[in-house]
Amino acid sequence: VIQNNLGFIGAGNMAEALIRGILETGVCNPENIVAADVNEIRLAHMAKFYGISTTPSNQALAQTCPILILAVKPQHAGEALAELAPELHPERHVLISIAAGLTTTYLEKALKKKIKVVRVMPNTPARLRAGATAFCLGQLSGEAETLLTRRIFEAVGTVVRVDEKQMNAVTALSGSGPAYVFKLCEMMTAAGMEMGLPAEESEQLSIQTILGAGRMLSECGQTAEALRIAVTSPAGTTEAALKTLASSDFEHVFKDALKAARDRGAALTPQEQDA
Ligand SMILES: NC(=O)c1ccc[n+]([C@@H]2O[C@H](COP(=O)([O-])OP(=O)(O)OC[C@H]3O[C@@H](n4cnc5c(N)ncnc54)[C@H](OP(=O)(O)O)[C@@H]3O)[C@@H](O)[C@H]2O)c1
Repeated sequence: VIQNNLGFIGAGNMAEALIRGILETGVCNPENIVAADVNEIRLAHMAKFYGISTTPSNQALAQTCPILILAVKPQHAGEALAELAPELHPERHVLISIAAGLTTTYLEKALKKKIKVVRVMPNTPARLRAGATAFCLGQLSGEAETLLTRRIFEAVGTVVRVDEKQMNAVTALSGSGPAYVFKLCEMMTAAGMEMGLPAEESEQLSIQTILGAGRMLSECGQTAEALRIAVTSPAGTTEAALKTLASSDFEHVFKDALKAARDRGAALTPQEQDA
């Protein structure tokens, strides 16, 4: 159990997902969690549902919490960091940011002192504690911050460490990834309907197929390739479908889609001189 106070800057969707996961797994007790937000309705909701403390002040948050999680939208991060900075102490505080696209160098510069920072990219299935999270360390962070980050984010799913230069690839793969699967579900449902299935049944079969295949990938201990080969009998129905995919530009288009997401991430990243 994390005994130090954990402070959330921003009590929105992702902060709530994290707090719920942390409480459900017992990583931290509600009396050790504080949330700060500009929105008082959000704070009242968080206090009521999770029994955590709240404050409208980021300064007050920094005074009581050595572990700070920056969970505001990236466009609000500069303002929040400026409020926090005067209250932070290099020996006492660590800042863990989930703000998409903000580099550790940007965060370190914005804080204007030698504060340990960690940059984290979670994804929306964190809401169901099925998230995929990647993180990278700032210049001053080390083993202790790695362990801390893993403990917090393992409460909402799996966690991997990457180099900062790989963060835009992470954003393209797991950050935006759920949307690709949602799109796949839409396409499978539409195809089923075109072949005569009623809408509801087509959707139900598509959803359960994606869920079941995901669970097999996660739980059967076999690679995606091995599982695919196992369901593809020679000259069978699956093979007919996969051959059609292979003869189109599908794989190439899919790779290009992820690269477009990665490049968009790079274009949106504020430069450190903006800090
Ligand atoms: N949702 C995801 O799947 C996901 C995945 C990866 C990363 N992230 C990152 O997580 C961060 C939070 O996303 P979210 O979807 O949880 O956003 P959100 O629901 O908008 O939550 C942010 C909260 O912070 C409040 N806020 C704004 N400025 C503030 C300030 N200066 N001090 C304190 N609180 C402030 C907002 O209030 P107002 O609404 O009144 O402005 C809002 O309640 C973003 O940076 C995003 O890039 C999200």
